Amino acid sequence: MKLLVVNGPNLNMLGIREPDIYGKHTYQDLIDKIKDYAEQGGDEVTFFQSNHEGALVDAIQQAYFDGVEGIVINPAAYTHTSVALLDALKAVSIPAVEVHISAVNEREAFRQVSYVRQAAVACVTGKGFDGYLEAIDILRKTQD
Ligand code: DQA
Repeated sequence: MKLLVVNGPNLNMLGIREPDIYGKHTYQDLIDKIKDYAEQGGDEVTFFQSNHEGALVDAIQQAYFDGVEGIVINPAAYTHTSVALLDALKAVSIPAVEVHISAVNEREAFRQVSYVRQAAVACVTGKGFDGYLEAIDILRKTQD
């Protein structure tokens, strides 16, 4: 399966950013962990991270033209604001799983709103980096 993992703003700062919430491991650690897991299962995975909403929209659109079969997306703060990301996911119709490292449902009220969730086949929250692996498992089942 051809997978794309999209990470939104400030996730490049993992390890530095609020380690009590997001942990001490870096963005590169996250990439390595997901890559190992995907490749062990025979999947091909590419990664995209940006702090810019339009760049994230472009990456989702490009996934369509690249024949991506599943998207794992942590839209970060744009989760709670972005109709553009929702529309991009709807536009490409690629099965997508929304992931959050932290338990957004137990945090501030504004983090409990998700625009992208409408376009996601599932949402995994509060499981740290392992949530991305769970998202891959969910996408693999969409291929059965
Ligand atoms: C996050 C949760 C968001 O509310 C926050 O803006 C992030 C990260 C998470 O992975 O827990 O940047 O998506």
